[in-house]
Amino acid sequence: MSSAFVGISPTPVEVPPVVYALASRLRSGATVVPVWRNDYGGLTVRLESGCAHRSSYLKWVPDGAPCPDPLAEADRLVWAASFIPVPRVLDVGRDRHGSWLLTAAVEVGGAPATSAIEPRWRALAARSAIAVGVGLRRFHDALPTDTCPFVRTAQTRVAALSAAPTAPLSTADRTITAVAVGVPPPVDRAVVCHGDATVPNTLLDEVGRFAAHVDVGDLGVADRWSDIAVTTRSVTRRYGPGLEPLVLAAYGVAPDHERTTYYRALWDAEEAVRTRARATR
Ligand SMILES: Nc1ncnc2c1ncn2[C@@H]1O[C@H](COP(=O)(O)OP(=O)(O)OP(=O)(O)O)[C@@H](O)[C@H]1O
Ligand SMILES: [Mg+2]
Repeated sequence: MSSAFVGISPTPVEVPPVVYALASRLRSGATVVPVWRNDYGGLTVRLESGCAHRSSYLKWVPDGAPCPDPLAEADRLVWAASFIPVPRVLDVGRDRHGSWLLTAAVEVGGAPATSAIEPRWRALAARSAIAVGVGLRRFHDALPTDTCPFVRTAQTRVAALSAAPTAPLSTADRTITAVAVGVPPPVDRAVVCHGDATVPNTLLDEVGRFAAHVDVGDLGVADRWSDIAVTTRSVTRRYGPGLEPLVLAAYGVAPDHERTTYYRALWDAEEAVRTRARATR
């Protein structure tokens, strides 16, 4: 999903009173620092409790927003935590305003890990692109498909797209959707995919090495290209052109034009449906 890192967003972010109230209930006295606003009204804030306590991150999603449910994300985080570095779940819940997920800040050797979208990592674009590719490969190598309870194949995604309520589509949306809902290419390698394997969702350690992934609400078994296609495009969009070969080399795979095109189109079709859903709420 395209979204804004608050620190580099041109528009200031207002924290809704409901998020302040939730933050105060979950971490009384903590300072609320806006970090990230997604395109569907979701907001992530950092709760800073002073130097004695590790910070935590509160993701709040308004009721009915067309993005992954924080409760579903919590299930995936708990399952994945046995195999890979992901944030520890501290609290999760839902009320009439929305759903939330509170996680511990990821640390490496006592220092906080930071998103690969941060300006200091973008300034080291080639190194950071490699770290993102390495991180994705670790994710795919570490998680077991045979015991993974979550599935997100192209077929399940196309079925969900076809079931989505229809509204007038632009010509561009219609073209994207037509490509996406065509027959998926044969699976190259089934792995547990991240589901939103982008630059902002990759955390790096103090010296810029891969540290952890966040935002695993769409985690599930699928062809590895459903992640790789999204990761390479995110690196190009966030860091600039020309870095895709570095990401692929760091991951350890040769380019695959057909699967890359397919999974980007499927992603775009889903995005178009979510955008329409938000507009018609
Ligand atoms: N536990 C954590 N430790 C460190 N950083 C975190 C943590 N949780 C969230 N973040 C930061 O907050 C940002 C937003 O969190 P997250 O990606 O879960 O929100 P989102 O709204 O689902 O994002 P998207 O727009 O990608 O869908 C992340 O990109 C990351 O920078
Ligand atoms: Mg994210």
